[in-house]
Amino acid sequence: MRVGLLTGGGDCPGLNAVIRAIVQRTANEGGTCIGILEGWRGLVRDMTVTLEVSRTDDIVGKGGTILGSSRTNPYKNPDTDLPALQDNFKNLGLDALVAIGGDDTLGVAYRLHKDFHMPIVGVPKTIDNDLMVTDFSFGFDTAVNIVVEAVDRLRTTTESHRRIMVVETMGRNSGWIACFAGIAVAADYILVPEVPIDMPHMVDVLKRRRASGKHYAIVVVSEGAEFPERGMITIDDKLDTFGHPRLGGIGNVVADRIERLTGLETRCVILGHLQRGGPPSACDRVLATRLGLAASHLVIQKRFGTMVALSGNRIVETTLSEGVAATKTLDLTYYDEAAAFFK
Ligand code: F6P
Repeated sequence: MRVGLLTGGGDCPGLNAVIRAIVQRTANEGGTCIGILEGWRGLVRDMTVTLEVSRTDDIVGKGGTILGSSRTNPYKNPDTDLPALQDNFKNLGLDALVAIGGDDTLGVAYRLHKDFHMPIVGVPKTIDNDLMVTDFSFGFDTAVNIVVEAVDRLRTTTESHRRIMVVETMGRNSGWIACFAGIAVAADYILVPEVPIDMPHMVDVLKRRRASGKHYAIVVVSEGAEFPERGMITIDDKLDTFGHPRLGGIGNVVADRIERLTGLETRCVILGHLQRGGPPSACDRVLATRLGLAASHLVIQKRFGTMVALSGNRIVETTLSEGVAATKTLDLTYYDEAAAFFK
């Protein structure tokens, strides 16, 4: 059996652990894995590498993806890219393809399976934790830990200068990273896309904290958080091939307003791609390994059009169509728990 593997969309810590697991289990069954380079682009342009156990055994703790990634959408140029992709799949002699990605990459996987019956199995990945079918995705735990480490460092300088520090996290339209990291660092306020920004309330909380003797404050804001009167803040007006804007900059706007309304010196740090870099946490390595092994199992069983997911602490099978049906926004139970500290 020849199994193709690709990683698409924004990279995230844990991708290599999935690759390692699939290569090992495929080899255990006497099969071969072919790595497709740079996501769907590699299948359109025929860019591949053979993956051997000896080459992938020690990548479990390496961040990023040894296959490279891109936000290529073959449905953007359907007349040229879809036939090229299918020809290359055939010429490579692949029996199956494992697509490791977020909603965009898995959305393409779903369409290729639906439109052309391509034998595809999906593995969910994203630091944003915004995929509906999986309770948690690998990459998320690492990203949260990176934010926590960053805030632990920012705290000392913020306190020394009696400032307010606004820390902007990634997460797109879901506030998972900001909320979890905010709880873990005892943030004085957390802003997420799911709850419109209530500036008067935040300013009141920050002023009360200062009056009660706390000399500094930390505000964690998710890049997709919005003021009720204006939309999301974007870096520029360009869209990627899946139609997404690049979010970023809300932290600066929030910091500016806080300073004006409180009179307290305020700074902003945008953590950006730091949150996706470096080695995966132990939790993410384990989750990614389990998902990779389970995806291989589905390939061996020829259960195509499916994907693997975490449900509770079990790895389960679900369908690509369910996987890409909707975005998973932050479960507001977590936000309510966080908000108990900034009433
Ligand atoms: O989806 C993962 C993510 O890191 C988002 O949190 C962020 O908005 C986006 O990707 C950034 O994308 P890029 O790496 O293309 O700048």
